Amino acid sequence: MFENNNFKINKICCIGAGYVGGPTMAMIAFKCKDIKVEVVDLDKKKISLWNDKNLENLPVFEPGLSQIISECRNKNLTFSNNIKSAIETSDMIFIAVNTPTKSSGIGAGEASDLRFVESCARDIALYASDNTIVVEKSTIPVKTADIINKILNTSNNSKKDSKFYVLSNPEFLAEGTAINDLLNPNRVLIGGENHYAIEALSDIYSVWIDKKKIIKTNVWSSELSKLTANAFLAQRLSSVNTISAICETTGANIKEVSKAIGMDKRIGEYFLNHGPGFGGSCFKKDILNLIYLSKFYGLFEVAEYWKQVLKINDWQKERISKLIVNKLFGNLKSKKIAILGFAFKANTNDTRESSAIDICKNLIEEGANLSIYDPKVSFERIALDLNLDVAGEDQNKKVNSAKSIEESMKNADAAVILTEWEEFFNIEWNLFSESMRKPAWIFDCRDVIRTSEIDHLKINLWKCGYAKFS
Ligand code: UDX
Ligand code: UDX
Repeated sequence: MFENNNFKINKICCIGAGYVGGPTMAMIAFKCKDIKVEVVDLDKKKISLWNDKNLENLPVFEPGLSQIISECRNKNLTFSNNIKSAIETSDMIFIAVNTPTKSSGIGAGEASDLRFVESCARDIALYASDNTIVVEKSTIPVKTADIINKILNTSNNSKKDSKFYVLSNPEFLAEGTAINDLLNPNRVLIGGENHYAIEALSDIYSVWIDKKKIIKTNVWSSELSKLTANAFLAQRLSSVNTISAICETTGANIKEVSKAIGMDKRIGEYFLNHGPGFGGSCFKKDILNLIYLSKFYGLFEVAEYWKQVLKINDWQKERISKLIVNKLFGNLKSKKIAILGFAFKANTNDTRESSAIDICKNLIEEGANLSIYDPKVSFERIALDLNLDVAGEDQNKKVNSAKSIEESMKNADAAVILTEWEEFFNIEWNLFSESMRKPAWIFDCRDVIRTSEIDHLKINLWKCGYAKFS
């Protein structure tokens, strides 16, 4: 398969058919028609959804993804649960399984739980039939490649003459824009030691990505860069969210401030939208990883510094929850609140670490009845996130999922906008506000409402970051 160290990649497999593995492999199959790509996962239901004839049922919602799947599926892109045979027949194996934060033992609450990555490495050691390139795609703590290497190259089961080459190739795609991010990445990062293995992966990306954008580093730089990129992005959001609170009390306008600072090229215009706090599977987990790493190396001040980014994120959710309670006369019992948006951002059905989860829990705790509308998130998902006993009649009454904005807002005392879905920018407030119980409140946490549309209506408005509406 690999002669004279010139690696010819005929088949790739990816373990983990989630938000990262699915779209990334779909893009490789789409661009490299001569490579067979197999995506495998332990989860049988998930794989059957990836294979579902109805593309509406794909387990990951991403604009543009279903078109690519329909073009490549069952040609050079397959989805299966046959982990063993996929490993046996692949020249290159991506690991894209989840790496949740450890919930017990050393580093609980901060360190990553690497048990899934470890079990993938053991499977690869057991089943790989020839020299194999193993690519870390999951976001993992710095030095994970060491662990993978040790398992692969010292396992009792590994074939005596097979060699493994571990690369770190972190994913920088953001959900909701994954396809575009994969098509036109700012950069591709490949960390590794073996020049030929690095080149083999680089050759795949260079089919559609300018070689100048493909950065080659050592493994640790690559792993640390991923954590650092996410920590810096999250830090911007916590920073801008603190300024949103200052704007509300001083009369400065958060949009004007963001625009003014963003025009400074050294700061840049992106990632300056204030909101209800950041969510998603990566930011919190990666900062916790940095905190753990810092403490491990005795850098306690560094750990404290990054902790603040998370503290401010929690504070933003907490202060919005308190504010809603205060505006509704300190009492939410028997009041109906419409929750508009539950996903952690627009254009995804993902709710991991969504601010909506904490804010909804706080409102439920205060006795509110919630009617949640999200165009892509199922009630099954919402019920899991809010720990609802869906079989219990009580909870069913307290929290329900609405089929439309209209249903959610009917007779509501308040509506809280938590995700910036496109359709929320076009709500006909004059129609929907009529059906609300007065005095009614709208809490706009995502800056979607143009105030001119609402100031003539008999409705109160609070907009995060604006003094006039505080
Ligand atoms: C990715 C990265 O892998 C993670 O480290 C990063 O922090 C977030 O993005 P993501 O694709 O979003 O994870 O996770 P998820 O959608 O949960 O998909 C992971 C998949 O791996 C799941 O479908 C799960 O069933 C599968 N899995 C997990 C396996 O197939 N084998 C395992 O041993 C563990
Ligand atoms: C992030 C990184 O952007 C991506 O590079 C990495 O690979 C994975 O983690 P993702 O979590 O999918 O991607 O979404 P992102 O667009 O970064 O948004 C994260 C959170 O920040 C969301 O809750 C979003 O609403 C919030 N956000 C983002 C803001 O509040 N304001 C902004 O200006 C941008």
